[in-house]
Amino acid sequence: MNKTIKRIGVLTSGGDSPGMNAAIRAVARACAYYKVECVGFYRGFQGMIDGDYVAMDARSVRNIISRGGTILKSARSKEFLTSEGRKKAADSLKEAKIDAMILIGGDGTFRGGKVFSEEHNIPVIGVPGTIDNDIFGTNYTIGYDTALNTVVEAIDKIRDTASSHNRLFFVEVMGRDAGFIALNSGVGAGAEEILIPEEDLGLERLLASLERSRRSGKTSSIVVVSEGDKTGKNVFELAAYVTENLPDYDSKVTVLGHIQRGGSPSCFDRVLASRLCVKAVELLLDGKRDLMVGLVNNQIESCTLESALKEKHDINKDLLRISDILST
Ligand code: F6P
Repeated sequence: MNKTIKRIGVLTSGGDSPGMNAAIRAVARACAYYKVECVGFYRGFQGMIDGDYVAMDARSVRNIISRGGTILKSARSKEFLTSEGRKKAADSLKEAKIDAMILIGGDGTFRGGKVFSEEHNIPVIGVPGTIDNDIFGTNYTIGYDTALNTVVEAIDKIRDTASSHNRLFFVEVMGRDAGFIALNSGVGAGAEEILIPEEDLGLERLLASLERSRRSGKTSSIVVVSEGDKTGKNVFELAAYVTENLPDYDSKVTVLGHIQRGGSPSCFDRVLASRLCVKAVELLLDGKRDLMVGLVNNQIESCTLESALKEKHDINKDLLRISDILST
């Protein structure tokens, strides 16, 4: 055990995701178990800059495993992007006697953490927490599974009304530049078409496919559109284009938005957060630094923050083929 690590800080940064509280709990409890102090910083890196933190023991994280959001709050700090901001953060960590940081968030969080660690020689470990699942080095990020379930539940409801009114629905889901949420929720909800940024389906193919669906006897259809997809610039223009070209369709658009980020985490996300964060604490106590923990083939592994940032988590394009076959 690395005796130089006596006090570990933890924060949540970037877009919140269900399971972040389970992650905070696991950090605080693992610290208590290994008898090191734990301190939670509010509002991500901004709390580090402002010295806004709270001491956390095993009891301060009671009853949060089931709660959505993050008790430490989250932010995307602009000040931390500057070297002056990072210097202030390093000074405040020194004052608070923090020896290492655990950063729960997505690629923006890891990018900031890596620069900070290099500039100020403070060990950091990244824990992937984002609904987007767009992080290399892990099969799953914390919050993705819950978001998928939220989306599937919403599309099931949209399907009910779509089918009652013989309508075509375009459902926009989150994911930033990645199509993980769209692809997996689309297959899970039995969507007729799935549009993702990683694959250019093209407008003509979409029209042909919807036309085929209609001729095959389908009376309603769902097209899941990832927010990063550029097939029709945006979901509203896409729907307008389709309606213009297929006037028999009665089309509607639903943008699911931030509902995807909330809610009680699924069991999968709670277990994932627990496993990843115990490992994050253990890595620091083993003298490791500047790594990201991840779940790879159901084993908890780690990779460098550098590779997590440089390499790309590829989507499984075979799911598009599966979707094509099953939406016949
Ligand atoms: O990264 C998570 C995410 O929800 C993305 O899917 C989305 O593009 C973005 O954050 C939205 O960010 P904000 O909450 O700042 O609008």
